[in-house]
Amino acid sequence: MQITHRPRRLRRTPWLRALVREHQLSASDLIWPVFVLDGEQRSEPVASLPGVHRMSIDRLVEAAGEAVSLGIPAIAVFPVTDPACKNPRGSHALDPENLACRAARALKRAHPSLGLIADVALDPYTTHGHDGVLTDDGADVDNDATLEILGPMAVLLARSGFDVVAPSDMMDGRIAVVREALEQAGLSRTVILSYAAKYASAFYGPFREAVGSKSALGSADKRTYQMDSANGDEALREVAMDLDEGADMVMVKPGMPYLDIVRRVKERFEVPTLAYQVSGEYAMLRAASERGWLNWESAIDESLLSFKRAGADAVLTYAAIDVARRLRERG
Ligand code: PBG
Repeated sequence: MQITHRPRRLRRTPWLRALVREHQLSASDLIWPVFVLDGEQRSEPVASLPGVHRMSIDRLVEAAGEAVSLGIPAIAVFPVTDPACKNPRGSHALDPENLACRAARALKRAHPSLGLIADVALDPYTTHGHDGVLTDDGADVDNDATLEILGPMAVLLARSGFDVVAPSDMMDGRIAVVREALEQAGLSRTVILSYAAKYASAFYGPFREAVGSKSALGSADKRTYQMDSANGDEALREVAMDLDEGADMVMVKPGMPYLDIVRRVKERFEVPTLAYQVSGEYAMLRAASERGWLNWESAIDESLLSFKRAGADAVLTYAAIDVARRLRERG
C-alpha cells in the first residue's frame, strides 16, 4: 500500500511540532479577574475557587505588581461589598468611596501601566442580588430605570482610574447610554468592553459565592436579561447592537461552553473579541485536578489554547497569574 499523506511526519519531534504550531499562549493574552474586600492586610481564600483569594486593597496592589512584572496587560476588579452598604437600588454604586473606586485609585497610583477594567452592573450593590433595579411590583428588572444609574456609574469608575468600563448586565441600550455619559463627561478615551453575549449560566456559581451575591440572589435567576444558552444567532444580534452603540471590544461569557459563539463573533465582526473563562470553568478544572483526575497545568493550558484557536484575542481567567508564571519559567 502506498500512503501519500502522512500528517504524523510533522508531529514526530518537538522541533517539528513547534515549527508548525498555529497558536501560542502568551501572558499578553490574559486578563486577571480579582476580588477586592474591605480592611487591611487581608487575603481570604475562596473555597469554591482553589488558588483564588479575596484581597484587601493593599494586598491587591501587591499582587497586581506581580501581574505587571509577568506581562499581564490588565486586571478586572470585582468588589466584595459589605452587605450593610447594599440596598434595593444599589445606590452604593455611585459612592466615590466604594471599594471599586478606592481600589482603582490605589492601583492606578501604584501601577500606572496596568490596565484596569471595571464591571458596570449593580449586582454587587443590590440587596436582591439582581444586576438592576426592580420594577414596582418587584417581578422583573426595570431596564430603563437601571440605565439611568449605569451612565453615572461608568463615569465615576472612569474618573476613579478605570481605563475600561465593562457593562455586564445585558440591559438593552446600555452601551449607548454609557458611551454618551462618558463623552459628555469628557472621558472620550475610556474604553467600553461590552459583555455583549452573556448567557444565563450555571457556571457563575463560585463567582457569586466569592462576591456574596449568591445569598442575595437566593433561588432567583437572571434569565429575563442574560441570554438563553440555546441561542447562537441572538448573540450575533447582541454584538451588532453593542458595536453600533459604541462598544470598542466585545466579550463572550462563559467561555469553554460557548467557543462556537467566540468563533462566529470573531468571523462576522472582525473586532477585538474577548472570552471569559468563568468561575465554574476554573473550579471544575481545579476540582478534578485536586482529585488527581486531571493534570492541572496541561488541562488549563489546553483550555486557554482552545480560546485562542476559536479566535479570542484575550481571555479573562482566574488562572492568569499561575499560567503567566509558568510561561515566564519556560521562557
Ligand atoms: C455580574 C457578573 C457575574 C460574573 C461577572 N460579572 C455573575 C453574574 O452574572 O451573576 C461572573 C463571573 C464568573 O463566574 O467568573 N455582573
